[in-house]
Amino acid sequence: MSTIQVQALHKKYNGLHAVRGISFSVEKGEVFGFLGPNGAGKTSTINMLTGLARPSSGTITIHGMDALKHTKDIQSRIGVVPDESNLYDDLSGLDNLSFCASLYGMKKADRIRKARELLASFSLDAARDRPFRTYSKGMKRKLTIAAAIIHEPEILFLDEPTSGIDVESARQIRRLIRSLHDQGVTIFLTTHYIEDAERLCDRIAFIVEGVIVETDTVSALLSRNKDTREVAFKAVEGGRHLHDAVKQRWPDVTIRAVSAEGIRVVLEHETSIMPFLKLFESGGFDLLEARIIHQSLEDVFVSITGIDIDRLEKAREAEST
Ligand SMILES: Nc1ncnc2c1ncn2[C@@H]1O[C@H](COP(=O)(O)OP(=O)(O)OP(=O)(O)O)[C@@H](O)[C@H]1O
Ligand SMILES: [Mg+2]
Repeated sequence: MSTIQVQALHKKYNGLHAVRGISFSVEKGEVFGFLGPNGAGKTSTINMLTGLARPSSGTITIHGMDALKHTKDIQSRIGVVPDESNLYDDLSGLDNLSFCASLYGMKKADRIRKARELLASFSLDAARDRPFRTYSKGMKRKLTIAAAIIHEPEILFLDEPTSGIDVESARQIRRLIRSLHDQGVTIFLTTHYIEDAERLCDRIAFIVEGVIVETDTVSALLSRNKDTREVAFKAVEGGRHLHDAVKQRWPDVTIRAVSAEGIRVVLEHETSIMPFLKLFESGGFDLLEARIIHQSLEDVFVSITGIDIDRLEKAREAEST
């Protein structure tokens, strides 16, 4: 049986349908990611899974239990890292961790030992006696994660674990997620970073406007478009001239992009790059580059969701300001 099973989950806020009847399951030990733009319904979903919000309809089964009925039992076996920290501003890092551990019934000696261990692994030793409110964003996120795993949960939920923080903290968090994965912890995370989804997840669901439009393993998604190859040409003469030369010779060829420097041409799988090189040579072009482009997860996301990648990028910019 799957560790998490979700059927026809729906969340409505007044008249707004934030989550529109999604179904998916998460297997034991996998890292499962929800990837989608702002307002897609990621936080609404994670809040329902962790008992922080009540679904309008649908079912959630975790470890074989109805999550809507056995919320307390389930909460003792999961860890939750919300998008906004739930820790106490006036308590020190060490006291916050020790307090969280006490909620799970851990003995005092164990609490302190485990809290110190976690502080060290996140490079928060030096700040352990300072109030939480004096921490930077990255430090806060790390302590929030430490608090969520102090009782060694079987499932960890993380809402945007690496967003809006410094590069080094984000790296430490990714490392931690990988190491928890190696220890067999089941992980559900949300992100709008394509790179994080690709680097961290075994499987990804693309969520757009409250609907899951695709769920698959990262490797299967990457092989989706493997027959579509693109090639980038750059020449001293620039993209516009390259474009005109190609279109004049082969009006049916798809040109994906034209920039000041060059063009991106879609190669049907039987087409080789040679005819283009010959065309440019005979046209007297001073070619600077001819490069096959391998399809990225970003290309697959764009072709499946139809969403302009800028919408994910914008989410990123809005956050850093
Ligand atoms: N408490 C609430 N009351 C009313 N509407 C809400 C509430 N929480 C979320 N929404 C709306 O539900 C939709 C989904 O929001 P949600 O926070 O789940 O998206 P998200 O995918 O987490 O977005 P982000 O990437 O910005 O975190 C949005 O239109 C949002 O405005
Ligand atoms: Mg969110």
